[in-house]
Amino acid sequence: MDTAEFVVVANRLPVDRVVGEHGEEIWRTSPGGLVAALEPVMQNVDGAWVGWAGQADLELEPFVEDGIRLIPIVLSEEEVAEYYEGFANDTIWPLYHDVIAPPQYHREWWDAYVTVNRRFAEAAAAVVAEHGTVWVHDYQLQLVPEMVRALRPDVTIGYFHHIPFPAHGLYAQLPWRDQVLRGLLGADVIGFQRAQDAVNFLTAVRRRLQHEVKGSIVTVPGESRSRPVLAKAFPISIDTSPYLELIEKPEVRARAAEIRESLGNPKRILLGVDRLDYTKGIRHRIKAYGELLAEGRLHVEDVTLIQVASPSRERVDAYVHLRDEIELAVSRINGDTDTMGHSAIRYLHQGFPREEMVALYLAADVMLVTALRDGMNLVAKEYIATRADNRGVLVLSEFTGAADELRRAVRVNPHDIEGLKDAIMAAVEMTPGEQGRRMRPLRKRVLEHDVNAWSSSFIKALAEVHARHA
Ligand code: G6P
Repeated sequence: MDTAEFVVVANRLPVDRVVGEHGEEIWRTSPGGLVAALEPVMQNVDGAWVGWAGQADLELEPFVEDGIRLIPIVLSEEEVAEYYEGFANDTIWPLYHDVIAPPQYHREWWDAYVTVNRRFAEAAAAVVAEHGTVWVHDYQLQLVPEMVRALRPDVTIGYFHHIPFPAHGLYAQLPWRDQVLRGLLGADVIGFQRAQDAVNFLTAVRRRLQHEVKGSIVTVPGESRSRPVLAKAFPISIDTSPYLELIEKPEVRARAAEIRESLGNPKRILLGVDRLDYTKGIRHRIKAYGELLAEGRLHVEDVTLIQVASPSRERVDAYVHLRDEIELAVSRINGDTDTMGHSAIRYLHQGFPREEMVALYLAADVMLVTALRDGMNLVAKEYIATRADNRGVLVLSEFTGAADELRRAVRVNPHDIEGLKDAIMAAVEMTPGEQGRRMRPLRKRVLEHDVNAWSSSFIKALAEVHARHA
């Protein structure tokens, strides 16, 4: 097999194999921010991407898709249940999102996590060229850096953590807390979304492993000599170019107008776009909006909330319950307030291609991002990228990584329903002048700090640490 200089290792491949209505094979862009951010990074390198194609027991040969070499990892049904739905998404995900849902701790899930992490590490070690680079991504694969280092001490290893890293008081719950820290410390550079995530990680390392920590550098003791590991924030961003191109297309603009028309031309369109996940604060948003309608501060003829909630992790109990709760809340509000011609909430439990998303962003006067905890939130950045006329308002939760950078958004604490209602009203009533004063600096930040700036700064740090160590 040909080797590759630069190997990305992520739980998912950039494409997912799904079976269509008539049993046919369909390859679809994988869900979530990780894939959206990484795909452009891989376009111009001698690279390979190790990941899972999203379906159990699927044995595939390596293949090329969109110019990227893909190396599929097989997961059995049981591994999907224990490693992916279990340990990754029912233990680590809720724990790292500040225990918004209760994390489940099961020893069999941990065993499956170790086994599957080893499989990813072995695949990466087999494909990476001598003195090449392996870049591991996200919470599903926290043990991979240490495992790759053991197999291939010659390579440079980066790890980027796309989700929050919790405060030590919460992290300490994890029965395998020391093993996970050691797994991550196999990397030369560990990237986080926010400065606070890096601080939380460094605190855990100091308290649990007693390694020396100076600023952002951890000294990991080794048998012959010790090794420096850099742990700091590298806030991720989006590839702005497809958004800037799509907003110029007449058919996308026409589609945005058509969307407005089809909703009965309300004065204001509010938009929420999320994976259907309990971290996203969808219930809080809908509650606040429903109360504004019930109190007569908003009127159903004047406003529509479009809520796109794309299906996610549908076999995990917490997600099944969330869907029921949200759909009950939406239908209650619509039942109480809709007229024949106007609907309070247009709820779409679907995913859409990028063109349609851009048309929705163009149609929306107010974007609502009310996550209770979110590593970054790239939807906020996508919305900003599409607002070339500097109109539109971003309502942004303080508990997103994006809030650290996007200071001029209308900031909210989504737990404070009255505060959220006032923020929604301020956004709906904001003058065009004030919209522009806020949107201009937001756009400047997103356009300057795009995904290329993010990946370059991470790779530069990786090269520096490696050079110092060599
Ligand atoms: C977030 C995570 C990603 C994950 C994505 C979609 O963005 O950080 O690692 O891939 O959600 O979730 P899924 O479970 O469908 O891969």
